Amino acid sequence: GRIWAVVPAGGSGRRFGGGLPKQYLLLHGRPVLAHALGCFLGHPRITGVQLVLPVADLAREDWRACLGDETGRLLPPVAGGAERADSVGLGLQTLLEQGAAATDWVLVHDAARPCLRREDLDLLLGSLADAPQGALLALPVADTLKREDHGRVLETVERSALWRAFTPQAFPLGALAAALADAAQQGWKVTDEASAMERQGWRPLLVRGHGDNIKVTLPEDLPLAAAILEAQWK
Ligand code: CTP
Ligand code: MG
Repeated sequence: GRIWAVVPAGGSGRRFGGGLPKQYLLLHGRPVLAHALGCFLGHPRITGVQLVLPVADLAREDWRACLGDETGRLLPPVAGGAERADSVGLGLQTLLEQGAAATDWVLVHDAARPCLRREDLDLLLGSLADAPQGALLALPVADTLKREDHGRVLETVERSALWRAFTPQAFPLGALAAALADAAQQGWKVTDEASAMERQGWRPLLVRGHGDNIKVTLPEDLPLAAAILEAQWK
């Protein structure tokens, strides 16, 4: 089957603050979201990339020019929704309406993760043949974890079985669309694709990636992402 990508960029970056949403800020001269799209636009196994933007930005004519789509894989962007899961769901619906098959794979990757390595993407793609229940990039937790009670430590949490979930996360397109629709209908809070699939009883494969695949969330993350990109080029 074919492999698609959905890149949700429909957020407002409330925690980051400032005027312009973080996905548009410049990193080494290119918008954060252009970096996030880069790995997918240039990948021979990815058929098409569905970008999801804030509804107010859809009318802008200048979005495509700065995204560096040399291979023509970037599909016309669509408007997102109130929550990340809504934006992803709208991107999936668009792919299905445009002729993608329910059995095709889709990789969902945050626009706010500009430091994804090609080798990690390749590792995830390579795992799909053995991942009928989907797969995601992730990394075991490194720090000692504390459970809090009113600002004091209640206990130390056993960390050996805990992983941090990154993106991209890969699932069969139709199953993911149905799981997100079900979560929305039931009012379940899902913060990533895997959590929606877990609710359906799926047990996605954890694929160990690199910790430099950070999500730009707070202002201090932007210079960090710039330094990571520089280090990756060396
Ligand atoms: N996102 C989206 N639609 C939303 C909310 C988020 O497409 N309604 C996207 C963001 O643009 C981002 C990714 O989902 O690329 C991860 O979300 P997050 O880091 O939380 O971004 P924001 O929601 O924009 O930031 P915040 O939560 O601080 O407001
Ligand atoms: Mg958010």
